[in-house]
Amino acid sequence: MGVGAARIPVMSLNVESYVPALPLEEIPDRTAKTVTFGRKKICIVRVDERFHAVDALCTHMGVPLDQGEFNGAELVCPWHAARFCVKTGAKTHGPGFCDLKTYAVRVVNGWVEVNLDGPALNERPAPSRPMAPPPAPSVMTPTSRFRI
Ligand code: FES
Repeated sequence: MGVGAARIPVMSLNVESYVPALPLEEIPDRTAKTVTFGRKKICIVRVDERFHAVDALCTHMGVPLDQGEFNGAELVCPWHAARFCVKTGAKTHGPGFCDLKTYAVRVVNGWVEVNLDGPALNERPAPSRPMAPPPAPSVMTPTSRFRI
């Protein structure tokens, strides 16, 4: 039996799927805008000519953060004043349960694009399961000997 060249199907592994979100002129510096992609709401923020994208719902009770304030660095929830850093998604104050998910952003042909399917920028790998400590050495106890 001969060895032939394997036919490997060519597949597109599209690990980055950026989608257009906003034209640049619709988001002036130091503003935040929420864009809806299907059922997902993403808040896009422009600060000092850099763009950031985070989930647009408060991690406390799901309130849209675009109804709150943007102080130039943090989104402030209108209900209980949880604050989230727009660069890292980190909860910096208040009752939010966790950080906001962040997304990669790029600018192409005058449009701000968001990578919806890529891993969250602030996602940490799940902690590996700690290894069980090695069993303690067993203590040898004298055993009785049976005589036949
Ligand atoms: S709903 Fe946002 S802080 Fe409570």
